Amino acid sequence: MRKFIMVFTVATFILSVLTNFALAKDKTGQKITKKQIEKLRDVFDNYGCSGCHMYMHRDSTSGPAVAVIAALAKGKSKKWVISWIMNPKKHYNEPDVKALIHQYVQYMPNNGVTKKDAEKLYEYLMAVADGLVKK
Ligand code: HEC
Repeated sequence: MRKFIMVFTVATFILSVLTNFALAKDKTGQKITKKQIEKLRDVFDNYGCSGCHMYMHRDSTSGPAVAVIAALAKGKSKKWVISWIMNPKKHYNEPDVKALIHQYVQYMPNNGVTKKDAEKLYEYLMAVADGLVKK
């Protein structure tokens, strides 16, 4: 029994050290370099997102400004945002989306975004929401 407790204690200790290590790594892993942001921004531009979602704080008649959609995205789950980016039509009937459609008199179209790029666009929006993107 004593041996068992000893093994258990050691195992718990090792496990907690490992978890702490993983968490610490996660925190530093969130740092994003300027170059990475530029790459993500290219994805945003290449899909034509910036055609409707303008930089700075400028709203346009085609859609909310980048800062606005970034803030909206931050308030939602990653899963929802990825789904929205890949297939907005699926969400047109949700009350908050309906309100936006009414406000902008425009439906966001399907832009043929792949899952991989949708993840990148999500990352980009989070960087904007966190104030890491300067313009
Ligand atoms: C033709 C214009 C247009 C294009 C292109 C466009 N959007 Fe949108 N987007 C809109 C409009 C308009 C809204 C507001 C909701 C609506 O009316 O459908 C919106 C809303 C959003 C939202 C907020 C959704 C919410 O309700 O929280 C996000 C995020 C977003 N767009 C991301 C993107 C990304 C990423 C791309 C590029 C793949 C993109 N948009 C391309 C017009 C556009």
